[in-house]
Amino acid sequence: MGKRIQLPAGIDPHVHLRDPGGTHKETFLTGTAAALAGGYSCVLDMPNNQPPIADLEALSAKERAAAAAVCDYGFWWGGTAANADLAPQAAARCVGMKVYMTHTYGPLLVDDAPALVRLFQAWPAGRPIAVHAEGSATLAAILLGQLYGKWVHICHVSEAWQIAAIRRAKEQGFRVTCEVTPHHLFLTEDDARALGSLGQMRPPLGTAADRQALWDNLDVIDVLATDHAPHTLEEKRSANPPPGVPGLETALPLMLTAVAEGRLTLERLVALYHDAPARLFGISAPDSFVVVETGVRAAIRGDTLQTKCRWTPFEGMAVGARVLETWVRGTRAWGDGRILVAPGFGQRVRRGE
Ligand code: NCD
Ligand code: ZN
Ligand code: ZN
Ligand code: ZN
Repeated sequence: MGKRIQLPAGIDPHVHLRDPGGTHKETFLTGTAAALAGGYSCVLDMPNNQPPIADLEALSAKERAAAAAVCDYGFWWGGTAANADLAPQAAARCVGMKVYMTHTYGPLLVDDAPALVRLFQAWPAGRPIAVHAEGSATLAAILLGQLYGKWVHICHVSEAWQIAAIRRAKEQGFRVTCEVTPHHLFLTEDDARALGSLGQMRPPLGTAADRQALWDNLDVIDVLATDHAPHTLEEKRSANPPPGVPGLETALPLMLTAVAEGRLTLERLVALYHDAPARLFGISAPDSFVVVETGVRAAIRGDTLQTKCRWTPFEGMAVGARVLETWVRGTRAWGDGRILVAPGFGQRVRRGE
């Protein structure tokens, strides 16, 4: 028998729920069910849908799809070369703007300098601009933020030099925050070789030295983000597999296992998955907590997951914790291995100014 402990429920600032446009991979219902099963009360959904959330009609369609959510949610707006003028209206309905500065899944790449400048000028100061920026684009993102006085949030930091550059930017007083994913904390390029396409995502898994640098610089990392990016097994096993892996249901068990091993403190973990995202993104949900059982011996199994894709890059990995219950705003929403609330229970997050 393990030990039951109660912790704040998670807030995941980076998920891809694929709804609308990719509902064979995930829907607002299945994706938010996966969030609850993973101990999260709130998720912020990325804009790389088909069509992308880069005009107000597409945003309205996402708002309608999200009416089925079983946990709380917010949206990221997709910045493009053509939509800088929509920034004020988008900012009123979204948590922040996402800019894809280097290639990844979906059609939202913005890699020409004038377009980036327009977007950084237009977005309201004090509201986050999250960037997918691999390689030297990380440096361009930090500089753009500094030039135009905007807050840049660097998604899924994966390389040793990147975390060193972000440390340097923070030391200079730049308004930069960053996130790290469980897959970059627990897996390396060796796992990617063994996993084949199931270990492919953007940014790719790093070297053992990259992974160690993330653990060694946890003090520079603001938030844990799953980058939950479901694709079907069939798609992942196809000749042209899309990048991305699911992660909502494995993040807390993996991280709590790291706590048990002494790799970080429980306080630091709670700061990463709840306190910092709540503070940074202005999300408050009273009476939202998770009951976990620690000191257990379990193995991660894709076929037990709530996500529609039902596979995981962590298949078979031993974990020492599991999520028993997730409470959202005073209601037990996940328990006894099932969802206990109806579609529509989830609420849209409002920025607590
Ligand atoms: C994400 C996806 O599938 O939407 N894929 C990924 O490999 N991370 C896109 C992204 O976050 O870059
Ligand atoms: Zn990305
Ligand atoms: Zn992502
Ligand atoms: Zn809270």
